[in-house]
Amino acid sequence: MKIRLLTILPAVLFAGLALFPYVSSGSDDGGLVTLRGAPIPESVTDSENALKKPIESLPMERDFTQQPPLVSHAVDNYPVTKNFNKCMDCHSWERYREAKATKVSQTHFKTSEGQDLANISPRRYFCLQCHVPQVDARPLVPNDYERAKSTR
Ligand code: HEC
Ligand code: HEC
Repeated sequence: MKIRLLTILPAVLFAGLALFPYVSSGSDDGGLVTLRGAPIPESVTDSENALKKPIESLPMERDFTQQPPLVSHAVDNYPVTKNFNKCMDCHSWERYREAKATKVSQTHFKTSEGQDLANISPRRYFCLQCHVPQVDARPLVPNDYERAKSTR
């Protein structure tokens, strides 16, 4: 085991070095930068493709029955880390009434082995894996997707 660790360690360190410029992108004055750290001119950020604000609305309609509902608010200030899940401050069964939010679905308490837990199941912990906010943007790739008949 020890020998194995020693053989992969240089590879891990090297990968870390290679990724460093990407991980540390962000300019000193808080402005937008590219992945390599070059500043993005104002004219670009102001253009039609500018970063748009997430839609804030009432819950959005679903396009098919099994769809994870789209997040109808911004999520920038709601971190989900290993030890803390801000989403559950409003979406837990304890808090949803006060927050006037939808409570997490009952399905979110079931483990992958089918056991029912008292709290959110680990496989449903990272909410943004499935639930995403929306912006009113032109689709990057044109498509003719139509809502499932059952949800029309
Ligand atoms: C400060 C309270 C609060 C926090 C924190 C919060 N939400 Fe919400 N959320 C709401 C409220 C209120 C609604 C319903 C009204 C609305 O759409 O704005 C909602 C709606 C939603 C919906 C739509 C539900 C439906 O039935 O269509 C989803 C999905 C959602 N939130 C996911 C999240 C996720 C994921 C996070 C964490 C990244 C999060 N929320 C954090 C208050 C919150
Ligand atoms: C693996 C994907 C996945 C993850 C992770 C996940 N969800 Fe869901 N969520 C779904 C799906 C699919 C549905 C719709 C079907 C259902 O109710 O299970 C849903 C439904 C919901 C609903 C609507 C419930 C209702 O009664 O209409 C809310 C609110 C919600 N999720 C919040 C959350 C929050 C908060 C988290 C993180 C703690 C989370 N979800 C994590 C897939 C996921």
